[in-house]
Amino acid sequence: MKSLALYNNKGGTGKTTSVINIAYQLALADNKVLVVDLDGQGNASRFFTDSPKDGLAQALTQPVVSPDIARCETRYPNIDIITSTQDLNNISSQFEQFSPEVRSEIAHKIIGYSDDPWYAADYDYVLVDLPPALNCLTESIVSACDYVFVPIELGLFAIQGIPNVTGIISSCGTKFGGCFVNKFDRENPADLELFELLKSTLGDKTMQNYLPCSRVIKNSISYRTAASEYMSWTFAAECCAKLTREIVEICGG
Ligand SMILES: Nc1ncnc2c1ncn2[C@@H]1O[C@H](COP(=O)(O)OP(=O)(O)OP(=O)(O)O)[C@@H](O)[C@H]1O
Ligand SMILES: [Mg+2]
Repeated sequence: MKSLALYNNKGGTGKTTSVINIAYQLALADNKVLVVDLDGQGNASRFFTDSPKDGLAQALTQPVVSPDIARCETRYPNIDIITSTQDLNNISSQFEQFSPEVRSEIAHKIIGYSDDPWYAADYDYVLVDLPPALNCLTESIVSACDYVFVPIELGLFAIQGIPNVTGIISSCGTKFGGCFVNKFDRENPADLELFELLKSTLGDKTMQNYLPCSRVIKNSISYRTAASEYMSWTFAAECCAKLTREIVEICGG
């Protein structure tokens, strides 16, 4: 099992959209996927299920409680989700009071890597959707993941902020898988220039594949479908598939 978190400390860069589309592509390739929604906004939860469970806050604050109380099936046979609720916004200070060992134990329990795994064997990939700002709780979860991937929207300030993002990832001790561009407009010369700047800032951690700025991607989310499900023949759908393949390769197949 591989666990991946999608993170950027900036809001709206496409973390949730990427989690949805990557999860869909992985499932399409016969992988069993668990999405963990750690964002109190619950966007991924609402996308994947009509009846989210509200047990995650309890599983995060009581070491003996199984995350199963927050796990739901989705309308996709190969995708399950641990759903979030607004309560997540209120439990960080409670979580912070645990010792580092207990925090790590709880985080591994959620991600499925504890010594006594609740369900590690069941999933090929765990995909974590994070809120834009990290706190003690979300940092512990990132620390328990194998890789972090960063979706970025091209912009001068966003690129200048990248060392801060990679610094946070390395302080969590997690491998930085790479950074990919979301909402890329390849017809815009400024975007092409900014992509060069991103490459010179990040070197080989700049991923080759990207998600285009696309009505298909935007509308598909509103219709609660992944882009490839909504319009499988489009460039946007192809980009989702290619990006996922690159992620799988980076994670070692
Ligand atoms: N490639 C894309 N093309 C067009 N619209 C997109 C694309 N990616 C995301 N969007 C739109 O941008 C908005 C923000 O995307 P999303 O919610 O995935 O970002 P986020 O990083 O999860 O935000 P937050 O930080 O609030 O959790 C949404 O309205 C989404 O539909
Ligand atoms: Mg989000």
